[in-house]
Amino acid sequence: MKVLVTDPISEAGLDVLRDAGHEVVTNYEAEGDDLLAAVADANALIVRSGTEVTREVLEAADDLVIVGRAGIGVDNIDIDAATDEGVIVANAPEGNVRAAAEHTVAMTFATARSIPQAHIRLSGGEWAKGEFLGTELNGKTLGVVGLGRVGQEVAKKLDSLGMDLVAYDPYISEERAEQLGAELADLDVVLERADVLTIHTPLTPETEGLIGEAELAEMEGGYLVNCARGGIVDETALAEAVEDGILEGAALDVFGEEPLPADSPLLDVDDVVVTPHLGASTEAAQENVATSTAEQVVAAFRGEPVLNALNAPSVDESAFPRVEPYIHLAETAGKIAVQLLDSRLESVEVTYEGDIAEEDVELVTASALKGVFRPLEWQVNAVNAPRIAEERGIGVSETKRRQAEDFQSLVTVTVSDGDESIGVCGTLFAGDDARIVRIDGYRVDAIPGGKMMITRNTDEPGVIGHIGSVMGNHGVNIAGMFNARETIGGEALTVYNVDQEVPDAAREELEADDRVIETKYISLNG
Ligand code: NAD
Ligand code: MLT
Repeated sequence: MKVLVTDPISEAGLDVLRDAGHEVVTNYEAEGDDLLAAVADANALIVRSGTEVTREVLEAADDLVIVGRAGIGVDNIDIDAATDEGVIVANAPEGNVRAAAEHTVAMTFATARSIPQAHIRLSGGEWAKGEFLGTELNGKTLGVVGLGRVGQEVAKKLDSLGMDLVAYDPYISEERAEQLGAELADLDVVLERADVLTIHTPLTPETEGLIGEAELAEMEGGYLVNCARGGIVDETALAEAVEDGILEGAALDVFGEEPLPADSPLLDVDDVVVTPHLGASTEAAQENVATSTAEQVVAAFRGEPVLNALNAPSVDESAFPRVEPYIHLAETAGKIAVQLLDSRLESVEVTYEGDIAEEDVELVTASALKGVFRPLEWQVNAVNAPRIAEERGIGVSETKRRQAEDFQSLVTVTVSDGDESIGVCGTLFAGDDARIVRIDGYRVDAIPGGKMMITRNTDEPGVIGHIGSVMGNHGVNIAGMFNARETIGGEALTVYNVDQEVPDAAREELEADDRVIETKYISLNG
């Protein structure tokens, strides 16, 4: 598989990919049409914050399985477009948290003690000892906007330096904030009380421009630190607020436009400290995020769950061995069920019985949907199957029962056109040997695979022989079969495993016989 890497990542990550036998192509200059050409035959794309992964890029990449973000922020990736294209987007949310938090603390000291400014003066030969009077952090209030991974780490570090904590984050529980010793408050309260305000939210439509002129005015006498994302703080308003003495100082690692243009007003203000997006730039952090991203790419190629997938169902790593065999079984049951349904699909129900009902089955349900949609020839995979169902107004439900009659675990995919439903139920013998054990209420014992034909016929002598000879006349070899009936002499359902596709002419000939009620050719390939 070909992995295109368009922003520099640690060699440790590239080695993970090469060791797994994949071709790694680095192209750090690619932009515009060059990027479109470079990604055209890539199976994975790995980026940091430098590459804009737009809809156009995703549409140009026909064979793309995954976009890996070696870091946290995914504001440079069009996740909606990736989902539409069935491409997984995964980031590495843990690996650089400590580095980003440490950089935030460093930037807090840098601005509160004017370290870069003093350094510049001294390296210019000036002993300006009397000109810098810093602010002690001990006893001051830290305002945290966004109490997620990095925000919490910063809160812990600065709490240990004797700061009081107040935080604004509408999506975190009071309990978690309390554990950190932080008081949750509205943004205006946090702005008013903070001596140092530090930003740790993602850049979203909600956070874009969150801190503008009015908010800065509330922070009189304070410091602002932003090591999260540019665009959250209005840079022009910030430069003015510091210049006008409303704020004592500011420290920024991230900017609306990166690299920061030379004419940025921020560069004209002495009390604004800037670094070129260095928050994650430690050796340890870069190794962490590169290896974590590469491992997820390798997992995606193997069809295994991608742990930090942002647009695909994921499964807990420890539960994966128990859930994995059911992923394929559910897809198979979905494929058979939908091919047995003659009419328009209205809803899909996936039922879990027995041990499997105890597990997190989100990925299994997505795979059942993938199976249901696959024969309809839509571009579908487990990433976009739930969305395809939603977009097409197809109802999806999941039912769990702790008891499974006669089996340890059962997965049933039931498709319905609103009036009629067809359920296909499967299990695993000896943990991984897939069997279809019920079709539309009939108990069967069929090995799912390749090409199959399912017939409904009357239960009387000579019918199966007749079906066998018609198939033989049309060059179709029967590899295996299972016959199930409701009552002796009633209706029977027979599952045939066949070596060749059953031609329409054979099915027409079969159905012309009164004893054959219906025939369905089922392909599990593709
Ligand atoms: P996270 O997802 O763990 O935490 C983000 C927090 O922001 C969450 O608790 C969320 O509830 C909160 N939030 C979301 N919308 C909000 C809103 N409107 N108002 C207030 N809070 C809101 O993310 P993280 O891993 O802590 O990363 C935080 C930021 O730091 C991200 O923007 C990330 O890209 C950035 N980052 C930058 C660097 C760097 O090199 N400078 C390194 C790592 C992370
Ligand atoms: C991140 O969001 O992880 C940071 O922007 C770090 C980076 O990749 O530079």
